Amino acid sequence: TQREDGASSCSQLDDLKRLSQCDNKLGRLDFSKTHNVLVDVDVFNRGVGLIPQEGRDVWHSNFVKMPCSQSSYMNKTGYVKHSSPKKRWDVISKRLSSLAKKSTLSVNDLEEAIIKYNPKYKDQWSFDALFTLVKVVPKADNYFPELFPKIATLALRLPDLVKKAIPLLQRGHAATITLSQAQIACLLANAFFCTFPHRNASSPKAEYHSYPSINFTSLFRGWSDRKREKLRAIMNYFRVVTDSEPQGLVTFERRCLKDTPKWRSCTKKMPKLHVTSQGTIEDEGTGMLQVDFACSSIGGGVLDSGLVQEEILFLIHPELIVSRLFTEKLDDNECLIITGIQKFSCYSGFSDSFEWTGHHDDKLDRDKWHRLKRQIVAIDALNFKHRSEQYNMTKVTRELNKAYCGFKDNGHNGPDIATGKWGCGAFHGDPELKAVIQLMAAANAKRGLVFFTFQDEKLKQDLEQMYHLLVTEGTTVEKLYRHLEDYCASRSYGDLFEFLRNAIRPSRSQL
Ligand code: AR6
Repeated sequence: TQREDGASSCSQLDDLKRLSQCDNKLGRLDFSKTHNVLVDVDVFNRGVGLIPQEGRDVWHSNFVKMPCSQSSYMNKTGYVKHSSPKKRWDVISKRLSSLAKKSTLSVNDLEEAIIKYNPKYKDQWSFDALFTLVKVVPKADNYFPELFPKIATLALRLPDLVKKAIPLLQRGHAATITLSQAQIACLLANAFFCTFPHRNASSPKAEYHSYPSINFTSLFRGWSDRKREKLRAIMNYFRVVTDSEPQGLVTFERRCLKDTPKWRSCTKKMPKLHVTSQGTIEDEGTGMLQVDFACSSIGGGVLDSGLVQEEILFLIHPELIVSRLFTEKLDDNECLIITGIQKFSCYSGFSDSFEWTGHHDDKLDRDKWHRLKRQIVAIDALNFKHRSEQYNMTKVTRELNKAYCGFKDNGHNGPDIATGKWGCGAFHGDPELKAVIQLMAAANAKRGLVFFTFQDEKLKQDLEQMYHLLVTEGTTVEKLYRHLEDYCASRSYGDLFEFLRNAIRPSRSQL
């Protein structure tokens, strides 16, 4: 007799594959037309260190416009190309150098400097959150005034640390960037000091309107409990990287799915599955392909007030934030995969109850390219204003393709996937439908799944039972796709699992 609790079909957590068990045959680190490497690959491959790759300064729409570019000029009201003699970096570096010389800095000092090279925003930008942070955090933990000059020193190293132009990861183009953790820290120090040119306007006509924001302006304004905790996490990152330079590489890969799968004729069966109501993707899922419940603008509200799964992920692994500098909004058939990021912080709570709880000492192993064995895939679900919108096969297929784009295992030797209620919080998705969609995408990608229900006991049990039935009946992806078509066509939108149970075992459920 078959067990009804479903546990018999599910795998144990230990049965799922992590990066440490993947024998990924990484060759020499090398650059190519589509893989941009910002460190010197010969020096790296000889094992004698990480030094910046030499290169040209490029002021062009396909590359990040750098604050230290020779082509970046400014006048009294902002930046004007070529018409004014003042080079932007001259103004910035003069200011930051004088800050870097001091042993402590006030938020006033920071504000003055930042506004000096962003004069247009004098009356628009507020630094009240930063002011309040320094005021309210008790003296013993209030290392911020001593930290600010160190962040300025780090930001000033930009021309020495990043010598090669950083390409933009643009819509419709699969491309990869590998850079060192030290380069990321320096870029983020520049974001902290709001030095990136052309990145402050948000109107639809703005040059970078299809890119996330990168200068930290919005993080510094609008004091709230959320901002306090966010700033504590970010400051901890800068404290650590200015104390000792991190020594590894990180890869950012934009993937575009060119040929979408034929879901109606996919004969693959269910992948391995482990369901748990305990733990989180970023802790228990470490070493697996960890799903970022993303916004198409990568990082979502991390630099503003957003504080759900994606923002928390970015706060405890702040190196992720640099992706906002070069990743254009994701399209329906695109995802971003990040390999090698370090975890710097621990936290508790979620959203309004989120609290930074302290430093995390990352003990993960590194791969041959000196990347920590941590991998994140950013996939953005659809945001449904009304629940019923999602029961539509055009939408279902969009979500299937998006998930598949993220899960597809190009090297055929990747880890299994750690996910959960993707698209089911801020984006109002139906957790049962999203679980089925992710199972189908993982089946097609031939990868196992761990599904973290985030304390949802009922979903855990229901999903285990559903999965048990799918496995024992040998249900294929194409069959499930047809059942979903029937479900959407029925327009009843009752409990999806119940509908599937009836569809898969009609005789039994009629008893
Ligand atoms: N591990 C496992 N499950 C989690 C975790 C975790 N660490 N954190 C939350 N959950 P949500 P969405 C569960 O709302 O609906 C951001 O602003 C929890 O049950 O973050 O895809 C992005 O930038 C939660 O309700 O994802 C996007 O703009 C559910 O997962 C937008 O939110 C969904 O988490 C994406 O919203």
